[in-house]
Amino acid sequence: MIDFKQEIAEQISKIVNMNKEELEKYIEKPKDLKNGDYAFPCFRLAKELKKSPTSIAEDIKNQIHIDEDIIEKVDVVGGYLNFYIQKDKLTKEVVFKIDNEEEYGKSRIGEGKTIIVEYSAPNIAKPFHIGHLRTTLIGRALYNVYKYLGYNTIGINHLGDYGTQFGKMIEGYKLWGNEYNLDENPIEKLMDMYVRINTLCKEDVEVLERCRDNFKLLEQKDPYCVEIWEKFKTLSMIEFNKIYDLLNIKFDSIKGESFYADKTQEVIELLEKSGKLQESNGAKIVDLEDKGINTPCIIEKTNGSSIYALRDLAAILYRARTYDFDKCLYVVAYEQNLHFKQIFEVAKLLGIDEKYTNGLKHVSYGMVRLLTGKMSTREGTVVKIEDLLKESIDRAKKIISEKNPDLQDKEEIAKKVGIGAVIFNDLSSDRIKDEIFDWNIILNFQGETRTIYPIYIC
Ligand code: ARG
Repeated sequence: MIDFKQEIAEQISKIVNMNKEELEKYIEKPKDLKNGDYAFPCFRLAKELKKSPTSIAEDIKNQIHIDEDIIEKVDVVGGYLNFYIQKDKLTKEVVFKIDNEEEYGKSRIGEGKTIIVEYSAPNIAKPFHIGHLRTTLIGRALYNVYKYLGYNTIGINHLGDYGTQFGKMIEGYKLWGNEYNLDENPIEKLMDMYVRINTLCKEDVEVLERCRDNFKLLEQKDPYCVEIWEKFKTLSMIEFNKIYDLLNIKFDSIKGESFYADKTQEVIELLEKSGKLQESNGAKIVDLEDKGINTPCIIEKTNGSSIYALRDLAAILYRARTYDFDKCLYVVAYEQNLHFKQIFEVAKLLGIDEKYTNGLKHVSYGMVRLLTGKMSTREGTVVKIEDLLKESIDRAKKIISEKNPDLQDKEEIAKKVGIGAVIFNDLSSDRIKDEIFDWNIILNFQGETRTIYPIYIC
């Protein structure tokens, strides 16, 4: 592959009295791509040649011989000589290499290191929404990159399968389960029951009490409650797997929050030992004010039931012991920034090696918005991800029929292009900024004009 820096240095060395190795050290990458891909500052030469940096830059520009196949344009801005590389050629070259080299870009820099990437983590009996699509795609991309670089990589799906809401869902199912055919669109129907039971709970405290009892029974592994809850899980996983299959997403471990339910007691004990666990209005909390976090981390609610944060802490302990990880990445939306700040801080009180607590990283990402505005369940603007992926395939198929009607394997190619376009749209958008989902951009094959943002982590 062309080494642009070397090429530029070589050509400059023919004009100024400096060897090319020396010159190469001065060539910079401009921060703003508007100023080219490489820049050569002429300030040092100015001192030696007793001329202004700008006029030196102008002189070099006038004399330099640059192969137009490699460098598209040379410009003088201030005392800099800016070089714009011929991207078309570079792209072709890279694509050719990827195509022809057995393992393009592969390395072993990660050998001996273990990285956990946690991604997707949808909630049982709730829709897999477009935010879950982002964590799934970003997380899997990170997983693939780390694996390719030789890291021992573990992809985990931390399913949201536990919490007091399941007490309500069980009650809803007991009351109305037989009204619904759960063989079709089960998640929509479970959601419907959930809305109904919530309304009923507001009207009738006895129902609310029964919901709480159901959750307690579930915690105590009551066979009937466990059976219903397992049914929710099975039905949800069938739906989630349809999405994972379309996207070819895999996990090394699928462990829901429920897996940690019987591992939380140890966390409480460790926190008690640290002396930082406090009582506050009957709940157990860790105050984090001195760590610059104004909201305390709630560990246990007044009624003694374990909560999200506590289960996450138990998961950290478990992962440290099971995988001895060097890094554990959580690909979760930025709405949970505070949650992760809190649990990463509280994790330091568990008495585990600093290696683990230093390795915890929240890879947050922005929201996805439809062109028409935010998605809302109430207004019916929530997109079903399976439908969205299928629509992308259909749209790709239509485009192929118009542009290349004689193409063989149309179906297969439409699937690759349609799914690939959704993945590319996600990965090429700025990770932190909110993303707008627009079919006209996603399936625009007229060249890629956006800046590609690398998924920069830490
Ligand atoms: N299930 C959660 C949600 O959908 C995300 C879980 C993120 N992971 C974690 N370890 N807390 O919002």
